[in-house]
Amino acid sequence: MNLADLNKVALAMVTPGKGLLAADESSGTIKKRFDAIKVDSTEDNRRDYREMLFRSQEAMSKYISGVILYDETIWQNAKDGTPLVKLIEQAGAIPGIKVDEGTQALPNCPGELVTVGLDKLAERLKKYYDRGARFAKWRAVIDIGSGAGSRGIPTMTAIRVNAHALARYAALCQAAQIVPIVEPEVLMDGDHDIDRCYEVTQRVLNRTFQELRVQRVALEGMILKPNMAISGKKCPKQAPVQEVAEKTIRLLKSCVPAAVPGIAFLSGGQSDEEATAHLDAMNKIGNLPWKLTFSYGRALQAAPQQAWSGKPDNVPAGQRAFSHRARMNGLASTGNWEAGLEKQAA
Ligand code: 13P
Repeated sequence: MNLADLNKVALAMVTPGKGLLAADESSGTIKKRFDAIKVDSTEDNRRDYREMLFRSQEAMSKYISGVILYDETIWQNAKDGTPLVKLIEQAGAIPGIKVDEGTQALPNCPGELVTVGLDKLAERLKKYYDRGARFAKWRAVIDIGSGAGSRGIPTMTAIRVNAHALARYAALCQAAQIVPIVEPEVLMDGDHDIDRCYEVTQRVLNRTFQELRVQRVALEGMILKPNMAISGKKCPKQAPVQEVAEKTIRLLKSCVPAAVPGIAFLSGGQSDEEATAHLDAMNKIGNLPWKLTFSYGRALQAAPQQAWSGKPDNVPAGQRAFSHRARMNGLASTGNWEAGLEKQAA
C-alpha cells in the first residue's frame, strides 16, 4: 500500500467546492427511478442517461470531484465509443466503483440485513483499478425499528457483522491501492426522532472505527460516508435544519478521528434542497477537523431525471438541472449556499 497516494486521492475527493456523484444505482434501483419517469430500464437507456450526466461539462468540471459507478457502467462506452470512464476523467473527475453485492437477510436477526460481496473482492478490485477506478464504495444498511416492540432493532449483531464486513472491504481496497468509501447507512425510514437516530448512529460509527482499527485500515486513506443525525421520515416532529447540523457535527466529532481526510454524506431520501441546506449549515458552523461534502445519489439526480424523462431533446434541460444541483451542493460544501440562489435559478 502506498498511503501517500491513497491520501492524495482521498483529499482530491473532498476538494473544497466539490463532492461526489453517486451514480451507482444497482439494476433494481435504477429501474425504480426510471419507472417513476416512465422510461424503460434498458442497457442503452441507462447508458444514455449516465452519458448525459458525465457530459455535463459545467457540473463535472467545477463541482464534481468523483463519480461512483455501478459494475455495468464502468465497462460501458458512450454512444461514440468513448469509455464512460474516460468522459469522467476528461472532465477532471475521478472514477469510483460500488463493489458490494447488495444485502442478504441476517440469520437469527429477523428483519435485519448484512451486506455481502467479500468473496473474490481482491480479484475484482484489480480489474476495476486497471479500468481506472481509484476509489470504491461499500454500503452497510442499518435499520431503526419502528412501531411497538422495535426497540431491539438494530441488534448489536447487525451492527457488528456489518462493521466487520466494512473493515474487511476497506483493508482489501487499500491493499489494491483503491480508496475505500466506508458507508454505514442508518436508514431515515421509520418514525424515530432525531435523538434516537443520533444514539444508533453513534453506536454504529464507534463499532465501525473499532473494526477499522482492528483490521489496520489507514484512516488517512479512506473517506467516511455517513447519514446525518436526522428525524425519521415518519416522525411527527421533524428537527429543523440548524438542529440537524449541530447534532450531526457533535456526533461526528465524538466518533470520527481527525486522521480521516473527509466525510461525504449520503442524502438518504431527504429532499434536494434539504440535503443542500443541511450540508451548508454544517459547513457554516466550521472549524472542523475533516472536510465535509456530499456524495448524493437521489438529491443530485431527481431533478435531471425529471427534466430528461428519456427524451434525447431534453438532454440540455437534464444537464442544466444537474449542473444547478451540483453547483448548489458545491456551494454548500464551503458553507456559501443561500436559499435565495435556488429561487433565482427557478
Ligand atoms: P442517496 O444520496 O440517494 O442516499 O444515495 C447515496 C448512496 O450512494 C447510497 O449508497
